Amino acid sequence: MPKMTTRHFLQSAATVLAGLLLVACGKQQPPAPAASTPAPAASAPAPAAKVYVVGTDAAYAPFESQNEKGEIVGFDIDVVKAAAQKAGIEVKFVNTPWEGIFNTLAQGDRDFLVSSITITDERKQTMDFSSPYFDAQQLIAVKKDSKIAKFDDLKKLKVGVQNGTTGDEVITKLQGKESANIKRFESTPLALKELEGGGVDAVVADNGVVVHYVNNNSGSNFKTISDASFPAEQYGVAVKKGNTELLEKINKGLADIKTDGSYQQIYTKYFGSAPTAAAPAAAASK
Ligand code: ARG
Repeated sequence: MPKMTTRHFLQSAATVLAGLLLVACGKQQPPAPAASTPAPAASAPAPAAKVYVVGTDAAYAPFESQNEKGEIVGFDIDVVKAAAQKAGIEVKFVNTPWEGIFNTLAQGDRDFLVSSITITDERKQTMDFSSPYFDAQQLIAVKKDSKIAKFDDLKKLKVGVQNGTTGDEVITKLQGKESANIKRFESTPLALKELEGGGVDAVVADNGVVVHYVNNNSGSNFKTISDASFPAEQYGVAVKKGNTELLEKINKGLADIKTDGSYQQIYTKYFGSAPTAAAPAAAASK
């Protein structure tokens, strides 16, 4: 009898437990899918869009500089912003000193660079370039009363350049690697300041930057000298070697802003007139 009672009890208990479990499950199950299905769909959208980090040496007006608010602005910045929009990518500009700027690309600290970078065969060995977006050339700045008339006159004179630029390259070629007369500065404005102070006889740098400086520093008393011996240069956006996926996006964006006229608008905003027939043709060509 006690045995039967015990068995009975256990059986009943088991039935009740099973029932409770069913009820419990039954109660829990409906809200679970109701709560879990729509919620994640709404709050876990596609992973946040990648923001491409763009390195630029923002001491190079009118191409890249910092305004009073510390924002990075300029022709290059507008071009990249417009091209990025066409390419459907997000970008963020980070001020990056020219010295070491190419290392930040190689190390992956920057996704790409826009910094008035001249496309050269040497650089092409360590990075990839977009199609050209601007035509440039070296230009000599001297004091107004200077007797310097052409590049060759700089052979034995003190010349300021920004270290590691194409300006540095041309003067190194003229004076020789060992020349003590080449003064290399961290930025182009520093080289031009040195010319103002008389520490160098001339500065060789990209035409757009020299012209902008002369126009905005009338007190500096400079004049400029162009020389036919300077090779034609073209600026390109640089990506890490082999990053064709990003390069294709940038090239598509650049092509699109040339087609729809926004490139020409940006050009006119900074340089006062639309690019000449030759410039966009060169800019559009490979
Ligand atoms: N175009 C020249 C070069 O590639 C100078 C560029 C310097 N750019 C700058 N943002 N500091 O060598």
